[in-house]
Amino acid sequence: MTAPYDKNNPFLAALVDRRRLSSPQSQKDTQHFAVSLQGSGLTYECGDSLGVFPTNNPKEVQALLSAAGFTGEESILIPKDPAPITLRAALNQRLALNGPTYKFVQLLHDRATNADEKALLAARLAEADPEKKKAWLEERAFIDLFVEFPSARVSAQELIEVQRRLMPRLYSIASSPAKYPDEIHLTVAVVRYETNGRQREGVCSTFMADRAPLQQPALPVFVTSSHFRLPTDDTMPVIMVGPGTGVAPFRSFVMDRATRGAKGDNWLFFGDQRQEHDFLYASEWADYQKQGILTRLDIAFSRDQAAKVYVQDRMLEQAVELWRWLQRGAYFYVCGDAKRMAKDVDAMLHRIVAEQGSMTPEAAVAWVKQLKQDGRYQRDVY
Ligand SMILES: Cc1cc2nc3c(=O)[nH]c(=O)nc-3n(C[C@H](O)[C@H](O)[C@H](O)COP(=O)(O)OP(=O)(O)OC[C@H]3O[C@@H](n4cnc5c(N)ncnc54)[C@H](O)[C@@H]3O)c2cc1C
Ligand SMILES: NC(=O)c1ccc[n+]([C@@H]2O[C@H](COP(=O)([O-])OP(=O)(O)OC[C@H]3O[C@@H](n4cnc5c(N)ncnc54)[C@H](OP(=O)(O)O)[C@@H]3O)[C@@H](O)[C@H]2O)c1
Repeated sequence: MTAPYDKNNPFLAALVDRRRLSSPQSQKDTQHFAVSLQGSGLTYECGDSLGVFPTNNPKEVQALLSAAGFTGEESILIPKDPAPITLRAALNQRLALNGPTYKFVQLLHDRATNADEKALLAARLAEADPEKKKAWLEERAFIDLFVEFPSARVSAQELIEVQRRLMPRLYSIASSPAKYPDEIHLTVAVVRYETNGRQREGVCSTFMADRAPLQQPALPVFVTSSHFRLPTDDTMPVIMVGPGTGVAPFRSFVMDRATRGAKGDNWLFFGDQRQEHDFLYASEWADYQKQGILTRLDIAFSRDQAAKVYVQDRMLEQAVELWRWLQRGAYFYVCGDAKRMAKDVDAMLHRIVAEQGSMTPEAAVAWVKQLKQDGRYQRDVY
């Protein structure tokens, strides 16, 4: 029977565990969450992701209402929705509080009654440098614009019509269905930062870290399938590169192979800022090593010394062995930051293939391309 729950009909799950993985002295707040699937009929596979529909922080909603001069009781109609709801409900549950566009800046400009504010808004609209223009707005949520331009007033309906819908966020699953058929574990970096002099927070990561109650059905979730998969042949070796939260699916992979007694070798490259504070799941990896399940573990803590050390530096140090594993048919997996890490790891893989396989750069490109085509080079990057 197929589960009745999906993105259009999410399951209201309970968070059953929440704990910090990074230490209180860490510069990051990385947390472990366990989500119960009990009663849902939902199933998952290693490599899948969990979709989570967050709600906004009610304090942020109140701050926006106050800055914009609304009570929250205003009745509005969300485009394509038949029934009116209050502005507060729409801001709490349905609409993104960040991401204003220049269409909205134009509206504020048209409405501003203060001459200085109008001139400033006109200058922003006329900015010739596209990078500068983009950066100025990226630093601002709707609240910033209402605070900076208090003479510009819009109606509640005008506001919601320029807001984006609040979208679900995806998280790589960090548990194995063989061990936890009724639970899904996540490894989440809680997003908190400052721009334009205001503290900001990521909607979904803080929803799970700060606002969702434990042991109550409060988390609308769905499972999304992916092509990120362990080899079907359990004897094949796997190489996993997962710094930071990129380690999530590899906890699932190793847990799964351990639970099912899969015989293939497992090699993990993990990295983060500082060993003492950011070594996610350290004791679990130590246990897997003792049991002989985690064949190799190479760690790269970037901020424990003056010069940065990253996972790809460890790959290079182990190039001979890495090439040997690839020659034995190893699958190569990368998960985590797409912008920098995954690109650099890809470049290092090409370099190692060229050097160890005595190939020209072009031949190495073709070799890695074939690895991908054979399903032996898989990435889950974001
Ligand atoms: C397939 C997939 C798997 C994923 N797996 C994981 C996972 O396992 N663990 C995990 O933690 N995340 C994972 N993510 C990312 C996750 O989906 C969310 O994007 C992340 O949690 C942020 O969501 P949020 O709602 O908390 O933040 P949002 O409200 O979406 O805010 C995030 C935005 O804030 C801005 N921002 C963040 N930091 C800064 C900064 N320092 N300075 C300026 N602006 C900044 C950026 O614009 C960023 O896009 C995954 C994403 C995908 C697509
Ligand atoms: N805003 C950004 O630019 C940015 C960049 C990366 C991740 N993120 C987001 O931040 C959140 C938390 O990230 P995370 O915990 O998964 O890990 P992360 O913050 O990306 O960091 C994990 C480790 O990777 C290192 N690293 C940085 N650049 C690298 C590179 N080019 N190659 C290899 N390793 C590199 C980091 O080192 P150092 O930090 O010491 O350099 C750190 O030791 C995620 O949501 C992610 O998407 C944002």
